[in-house]
Amino acid sequence: MASSYLGSSIIGRAQESRALLVVLHNIRDYAKGRHRVTDDTPYGGGGGMVMKPDPIFEAVESVLGSKREGTPVILMTPQGRLFSQAVARELSGYKRIALIAGRYEGVDERVRQHLATDEISIGDYVLTGGELPALTVIDAVTRLLPGVLGDDAATEKDSHGDSGLLEHPHYTRPMNYRGWRVPDTLVSGDHNRVELWRRQHALRRTWKRRPDLFDGVHLSDLEKEWLAKVVKEYEADETKGSE
Ligand code: ADE
Repeated sequence: MASSYLGSSIIGRAQESRALLVVLHNIRDYAKGRHRVTDDTPYGGGGGMVMKPDPIFEAVESVLGSKREGTPVILMTPQGRLFSQAVARELSGYKRIALIAGRYEGVDERVRQHLATDEISIGDYVLTGGELPALTVIDAVTRLLPGVLGDDAATEKDSHGDSGLLEHPHYTRPMNYRGWRVPDTLVSGDHNRVELWRRQHALRRTWKRRPDLFDGVHLSDLEKEWLAKVVKEYEADETKGSE
């Protein structure tokens, strides 16, 4: 599952261009015995299985070797800190990270206590395993690495990017599709007006959909004025249902 995703599209190209190297390791390969068992019943009884500590410790220690210093060892778990664009940015600054994809029934507590240096959740829901969460982290981090998207400026304006706001709406050709026209400002050729429109619509969209995001955003006095105007316009706007 992971290798097919990692081999395709932008992540695949990032690896071809050596902006990124992902190496997959199967924890089972580090389990002992003929059956290579990686889980066992919980002490204290109850349902479900728990991932054994030894194969995980041995996998991480063997993979990272003596160069472990400074490498975050991240356990993917719904109990971890919530993943976000800010966390992706933070992780993109490391030369190397190790992600451990466990199973949701549980991982022996000693992995958290003595091996993992960080625990990340991709959201308040429970998946059957940490593989998709690990791929999510890899994807979000990869597109922030230098050279991966081509246009270095592109990630700054992303939703949840440097501005902290949701992104403005986008349009491309045709100018008129089924009678739905592209806003005049965007085809005006006036760069300043386009920038103003985009900033105002980013503010408007964020205010409408994710007002919580404003908590972490510094707005200039001018932007506060825009926002007040945007809110007022929004309240008067008949078409606001489409926002
Ligand atoms: N494993 C199962 N669910 C998860 C989640 N929401 N985040 C990270 N790892 C998980």
